[in-house]
Amino acid sequence: MQKGALSGKNIVIVGASSGLGKALAEQLSEQGPNLYLLSRNIESSDLSFEAHKINCDVKDAESVGRAFQGVDSLTDKIDVLVNCVGIGLVKGLEHTTQEEINNVIDTDLKGVIYTSQEAYKRMVEKKNGHIINVSSTSGLKARPDETIYCAAKWGLRGFTESLRLAGVPNKVRVTGIYPGGMQTNFWKGNEPKNLEAFMQPADIAEQIVNVIKAPVSISPAEVVIERGV
Ligand SMILES: NC(=O)c1ccc[n+]([C@@H]2O[C@H](COP(=O)([O-])OP(=O)(O)OC[C@H]3O[C@@H](n4cnc5c(N)ncnc54)[C@H](OP(=O)(O)O)[C@@H]3O)[C@@H](O)[C@H]2O)c1
Repeated sequence: MQKGALSGKNIVIVGASSGLGKALAEQLSEQGPNLYLLSRNIESSDLSFEAHKINCDVKDAESVGRAFQGVDSLTDKIDVLVNCVGIGLVKGLEHTTQEEINNVIDTDLKGVIYTSQEAYKRMVEKKNGHIINVSSTSGLKARPDETIYCAAKWGLRGFTESLRLAGVPNKVRVTGIYPGGMQTNFWKGNEPKNLEAFMQPADIAEQIVNVIKAPVSISPAEVVIERGV
């Protein structure tokens, strides 16, 4: 069995088939936890390390329920849930369809609520756990061409901060991560001109690893990561 600082920990990552979630899973795999990786296409994704892959569409609460039952069949305790799942939408509201609105709200807000709820129930029972939700600087700032994405990510901030307070007496920690632009598939088909100046997902993943490894005596509430020089 692999040894490491996170040996024996059970870590669920939602949205682990690419970008930030995949980079995080890769880095964590070097520290020995049991990894449970969820996304719609995770079973067909190529991983260079050992992990349990569980297909899950967060837009569908039943699919989320089944995925967590899948985790239950492998372990009786979830130590950490990281929600890296999310889709973007950069579009004027006047050109946005109802389907696009639902897609973003159902994935970035409701989807994260569903997975958080499944993990939270289990963590409250054990009086142990840490939920880490990846929002965005668009969850803190208003952006005129991202009305729907901002609505989802601002909503996610309210959910995350409220759950953090609810978690305190239950010994469940909750952290919101607010990164700026990263070079990932998120921008596929709608690439910003300065994409090459955006951050590397591996650098953000490193900061999340630090949050996961933070001693239980501290609770990082919000981590905002802007682009450096
Ligand atoms: N890239 C940026 O500039 C940026 C900046 C700030 C914040 N963020 C946030 O960072 C997080 C990670 O994004 P990323 O940049 O790493 O993008 P990414 O490479 O596109 O990764 C998104 C992940 O979400 C999964 N996913 C999408 N819809 C899903 C669904 N319905 N059910 C389950 N999984 C689903 C995808 O996997 P499948 O396709 O296999 O389902 C993929 O693993 C997101 O929350 C995003 O909002 C991104």
